[in-house]
Amino acid sequence: MNTTPGTRHLIAMVVCAIAAVSGARAATPAELLAGYSAQAGAAASPERGRAFFTGPHGREWSCSSCHGITPTQEGKHASTGKVIAPLAPAAHAERFTNPAKAEKWFRRNCNDVVGRECTAGEKADVLSWLLTLKR
Ligand code: HEC
Repeated sequence: MNTTPGTRHLIAMVVCAIAAVSGARAATPAELLAGYSAQAGAAASPERGRAFFTGPHGREWSCSSCHGITPTQEGKHASTGKVIAPLAPAAHAERFTNPAKAEKWFRRNCNDVVGRECTAGEKADVLSWLLTLKR
């Protein structure tokens, strides 16, 4: 194809726009964390994240009910018993590399555990804690 630099630029922009809209853009866990922290307007706290993840929220489950207290290890779904791959990126490289996937599961799981969506600050805290974990 005989494209001019201008055309190539346009094509690149269109491809990026499609990827952004479909949510398929790959990211790193650090980028996701930066995004949540910026949204929250505060620095993330791994310690708060650990407490949020492992602690009770007045309902049947905590995050650890399915993901385990040590999310560098496999979890087990609290109702179906299905094995869940480790949530910590150090133990499972795919984690937090697909923003749409991360958002979808944050929404679903926070609703189950806390009865509402998690705030950007809570997501930042949890992710910052998960990133401190080494396998
Ligand atoms: C009832 C079981 C259950 C509970 C409780 C639960 N999760 Fe999950 N979680 C899952 C399942 C199932 C998946 C999707 C399967 C997979 O990705 O391995 C998942 C995936 C995720 C993902 C996707 C990560 C990625 O990028 O791959 C995040 C983030 C997450 N959970 C966070 C949480 C948080 C935070 C809590 C507590 C508020 C929580 N989960 C509680 C079952 C649970």
